[in-house]
Parts: sequence; structure tokens; C-alpha cells
Amino acid sequence: MFAVAIDGPAGAGKSSVAKAAAQELGFVYVDTGAIYRTIALYVLRQGVDPHQASAVEALLPQVQVSLEYTQQGQKMLLNGEDVTALIRTPEVSMATSACSAIPAVRAYLLQLQRDLAAENNVLMDGRDIGTVVLPHAQLKVFLTASPEERARRRVAQLEKAGQQADYASILRDIQQRDYQDSHRETAPLRPAEDAVLLDNSSYTFEESVRRLVALVRERL
Ligand code: DC
Repeated sequence: MFAVAIDGPAGAGKSSVAKAAAQELGFVYVDTGAIYRTIALYVLRQGVDPHQASAVEALLPQVQVSLEYTQQGQKMLLNGEDVTALIRTPEVSMATSACSAIPAVRAYLLQLQRDLAAENNVLMDGRDIGTVVLPHAQLKVFLTASPEERARRRVAQLEKAGQQADYASILRDIQQRDYQDSHRETAPLRPAEDAVLLDNSSYTFEESVRRLVALVRERL
């Protein structure tokens, strides 16, 4: 199997770039953020504070997370319920950042992620894929863009969807999540030593995809 680990901060376009590259390469695209989001949704539904590590840990035996791959892409199932459309709210994003800092949550999800890579050629995106989940991935990419550029893209995305967007608060959210994700004790966001750094601040989407596909093809 061939594994590509793609890590980087929120909003750098990892998922859309990795998804398009996976399609071009015939690989399975695995969005690990969605897996963490599914756990966070369950925690919120149970009325548990996502910062309370022991309370969150106590819920884990009740949660069954599974993935399904369809024409529309990766679907997330929470105890059999399709929650794909419910895990993208700002509330779930913040709760996920807190839940994903809990070592027991990360340990709980480690094998699931490794199993996916053992069964398929994958482009797996997350925060610790190259450093922890798939340390032997044939290619590791740290895909990033400046916080300001990520905020601008998010504003454009929301406006396109007809939603209100406030640049300042979006930038603040991005900076807060970057800080939380890179300063936590367990599996903080950082490039693996052997990762290729891809800063796409000045690239178009197509250019980012082209560069990622080229990096994979060089190693196939
Ligand atoms: O990529 P995303 O925005 O869907 O990720 C949501 C949160 O989950 C983010 O705060 C970081 C965390 N996460 C993580 O800790 N490890 C991963 N492999 C993927 C996501």
C-alpha cells in the first residue's frame, strides 16, 4: 500500500486539495478531522464539556465511529447514524479542538486510522498523520497557508454560500485553533522531520492539487 500523510493547520485547503488529488490518483481520501468531529458531536449531544478529559473519556466505550465511502465521498457514521452534514458547525469545530487534545481520544482513534491505511492506498489528512499515525508513510506533506490568507478564503467560501462572514472573527478563530492544535501536549500540530513543506498562500487551488499529485507521482 502507498500512504500519503497530509498535515497542516485548519483552513489551508488540505481536505479539498487532498480530495481532488486522491481522485486523480485513484487513492482513497481519508479526512481524519471528520472522525474527531464525530466524537465531538457525540460529546456535545451528551451535554458533556469537551474540556473535561475524564468525562469525555468515560463516553468513549459508547461511541462507534465508522466511515463509508460513496460517490459523494466520505460519510461519517455515529453509532450507525449518518452525521456527515452535522459535524461542520463552528460549535462542533471548537469542541473538536478540545476533544482532540485528550490523549484517550487520540489513542481510541489511532487503530481505526491505521487500519484504513493498511487496506487502501490513502491520502490521509489531519494534524499528526506524518508524525504519529503513519510514521512510515511514503510521502509526508505539511500543507499550510498564512492565517490571513486562510481567513480570506473562508470568508469567500461563506459568502459564496450566501452566509454572513466576519473576517476579524474568522481570523481570530483560526489563530485560536492554530494555537490550541500546536500547543497541546499530545500529538501537537507540527511538520514531521521528513515532510515536504507546501505553503499554498499564493497558489490557486488547481496549482496546489497539481503540485501534490506531482509529489506523489515522483515516488510511485
Ligand atoms: O481538519 P479539521 O478542521 O476537520 O479538524 C478538526 C479538529 O480536529 C482540529 O481542531 C484539529 C483536530 N484534529 C486532530 O487533532 N488530529 C487530526 N488527525 C485531525 C484533526
